[in-house]
Amino acid sequence: MTNEDQGLNRSRILVVDDELTIRKSIQKRLEKEGYEVTSADNAKDALQLFQENSFDTVISDIRMEEMDGLELLKRLQDQRRDIPVIMVTGAPSLDTAQESIKAGAYDYITKPIEREILINTVKRALEKKRLNDQIKEYQRSLELKVREQTKTIFSIYKFANQLNSMDSLEDVVNSVVNFVSDFMFSKRVSIMLLDEKGEYLSIKGAIGLEEEIVRKTKIRRGEAIAGKILETGKAIRVDDISSMKAESDRYSQYRSFMSFPLMQAPLKATNLSLGIINVTNRFGDQPYVEEDLENLDFIADTASVAINNQLKSIEIERSYFRTMKALARAVEEKDRYTRGHSERVKTYAVEMASHLGLPSEITSTIEYACVLHDIGKIGIPDAIIHKDRDLTDEEYTQIKEHPAKGENIIRVIPFLEPAQPIIRHHHERFDGTGYPDGLRGKEIELGARIIAIADTYDAMTTERPYRGPLPKDHVIAVLKEQKGKQFDPELVDIFVRYLLEQED
Ligand SMILES: [Fe+2]
Repeated sequence: MTNEDQGLNRSRILVVDDELTIRKSIQKRLEKEGYEVTSADNAKDALQLFQENSFDTVISDIRMEEMDGLELLKRLQDQRRDIPVIMVTGAPSLDTAQESIKAGAYDYITKPIEREILINTVKRALEKKRLNDQIKEYQRSLELKVREQTKTIFSIYKFANQLNSMDSLEDVVNSVVNFVSDFMFSKRVSIMLLDEKGEYLSIKGAIGLEEEIVRKTKIRRGEAIAGKILETGKAIRVDDISSMKAESDRYSQYRSFMSFPLMQAPLKATNLSLGIINVTNRFGDQPYVEEDLENLDFIADTASVAINNQLKSIEIERSYFRTMKALARAVEEKDRYTRGHSERVKTYAVEMASHLGLPSEITSTIEYACVLHDIGKIGIPDAIIHKDRDLTDEEYTQIKEHPAKGENIIRVIPFLEPAQPIIRHHHERFDGTGYPDGLRGKEIELGARIIAIADTYDAMTTERPYRGPLPKDHVIAVLKEQKGKQFDPELVDIFVRYLLEQED
């Protein structure tokens, strides 16, 4: 006897017949086959039993008093549509047998009941029941899966909407990293983006990685798993690095930030690789399954749209900046005495920033401000700008408007927002007698205090229409003399120290 037979034999059968001998004979034969049989001598009791127990099939006589087999069949089906019911009928009454089939009975057998027919019919009925159950189970699990997946997709869509309303690349990248970490129950998630030339990947956002690794990791396009994914454009799942012999050798140099099992998916716009998302270290060391990979791929696609939008707006901002830089240069070029002024101011300012150990974002902001610090002069007549000396009060008032005008001009570039106060205040004096706002001391933005020194130093050490360049010693003496008056004394010390180092 096979396992399946044993399974069938444990099936439960309800036998309904008002004739004791027939009832007993059916029951005995079926029990001999190993089935579990319960019997009833009328339809009403049978219904009661059917409600209280779970049967796999029912065998019922058609002709019974009070409630006949057809009525019982109908009521059984009201309770459970898929229960196979075998009708038992007296030999000539084929009409009722046919009628019961139409009403939904599984089959019928005629009296006197032949053992073989009984057993075979029951077997087939049970097999049908088993198939029905299987289909029902499959549908149930399919529904569950669909429901689960719908929930997943919905939560990703909800997240995508949040992403699209963010206004910096940093926010987008960090949100994606956090979302994926929660969603995939993973402790380590990172996003690597390609540089402008599309040659190297570097980490733009990470969770579960040391800061130094985030800062230092660089992967060349085409190298390691991450670099390869850019080429194939396909997400992958790796349980164990030893399964990838070729990577295994190269893997050693990326050991600091890679661990297994891992999943990686590409970030891409229509025809453009943007980078990759890397997911490892699932809580409880669970492996990733195919469904996780599909979800990651879906999240990566969603994130790509938001990342690409941010990159585009950065590109637009950069091109605005380039235009403005060109404008600022054009203003300088018109006057041979100011040619190259902004670039030199930038060099000095960056030196001071580096002596102060300022973070790179602040240094960049100061650089931008240097390049554009006098862009407000666009709005002032050349005749006044080039005059430089013997200005009337009226003309001097106009000149003094250039920092505020410059601040206004760069307002259209969001990433230059931190440079706005630097440009506005680059003519303030440390003692509070400068313009436009008469700020004093540390009220003045650090970048503006730096530029004030660099600006003056460059103006004095370059040629003017009315004088040659002043000697360095002389200018240093002037800077020192102006400590605490025009300039921040600490910054003057730093700058003078730099100038003297240059001499050595
Ligand atoms: Fe200026």
